[in-house]
Amino acid sequence: MDFPTAPAVEEAIIQRAKHNVYGYNVTDDLLHQSIQQWLKKRHHWEIESDWISYSPGVVTSLHMIVQALTEEQDKILIQPPVYPPFYGAIEKHGRTVVKNHLQLHNGRYTIDFRDFEQKVMDKQVTMFILCSPHNPVGRVWEEEELRKMAELCSKHNVIIVSDEIHADLTYSNYTHRPISSLQKEIQENIVTCMAPSKTFNLAGLQASYIITPNKKWKAKIDKQFLSQGLHGLNTYGIIAMEAAYLEGEQWLNSLLQILEDNKNYVMESFQKHTDKIKVIEPEGTYLLWLDCRDLKLDNTALKQFFQTEAKVGLNDGASFGDDGEGFMRINIACPKPILEEGVTRILKALEKK
Ligand SMILES: Cc1ncc(COP(=O)(O)O)c(C=O)c1O
Repeated sequence: MDFPTAPAVEEAIIQRAKHNVYGYNVTDDLLHQSIQQWLKKRHHWEIESDWISYSPGVVTSLHMIVQALTEEQDKILIQPPVYPPFYGAIEKHGRTVVKNHLQLHNGRYTIDFRDFEQKVMDKQVTMFILCSPHNPVGRVWEEEELRKMAELCSKHNVIIVSDEIHADLTYSNYTHRPISSLQKEIQENIVTCMAPSKTFNLAGLQASYIITPNKKWKAKIDKQFLSQGLHGLNTYGIIAMEAAYLEGEQWLNSLLQILEDNKNYVMESFQKHTDKIKVIEPEGTYLLWLDCRDLKLDNTALKQFFQTEAKVGLNDGASFGDDGEGFMRINIACPKPILEEGVTRILKALEKK
């Protein structure tokens, strides 16, 4: 995001900096409690403090969890088009990606459950990495969808790893439900990765956490971190997470209004001025997925169009998997004038096409 973080976070960091002893820090009860309070208040999810492990980032967590809970040669299910590091977290460790392609119908992505079930029935598929809310298609999965995925995975002994880094960023009328909060019976089969980093613009401070009530898996994950020489969090990451969760709620509510306004502006501008680019309406995340297939440009030409003709820097849809070809991803977490400038540049470049 281009927005400054919550004032409470900035203030906490300044105060900590003034205490000029920067030795090792500990992840203590206050940090656990700040997470527990936040999850209860924002997501109606009550967790125990001994379900929590800490990690410098969600991508790091995915790499560790894949190594800790699967074997080489195992297959891992994902739902493309999806956040590119999911592929690396699987393939870099000798595991194989299996795809349950999301289906785009009438401007909204849904899950092909028949295909999902077929994929999880394969004995070699031992893990499913869920992106919830989904980057880049912007879906906030409904309870029914989450329940079905959870039940199918439990039935076929497939571990669910749920990346919920965008959990706090939902638009009005949409509610994020942590998949692990749905029912007690399925919790043991789920590992959830979360962080305040997207919500409060703290990614550079590298502080995130993993939640699972499954003691056996938690021990394996913790061991994996230690065996790679990873322990503890950055002092400022701890300070920032505590301040964000304990004092940042009002700031987040204001941010969500700004994002809602920016999202509506982009949706309306494209709808009004062009039929060549269709914006997939996001239900969550500040990342909008643009369907540019009607421009009929191949991937190189599409990137070229945005870079050299429109002069805007978007993410290349193809990097999210082959289903992303013909799409681009725009980040709308910036001040409105910058967004207006970007959208105007794209629309002007389209007029010349
Ligand atoms: C779905 C998803 N997971 C993880 C990350 C990155 O997490 P981290 O910086 O904690 O590794 C992102 C960042 O865009 C993301 O969209």
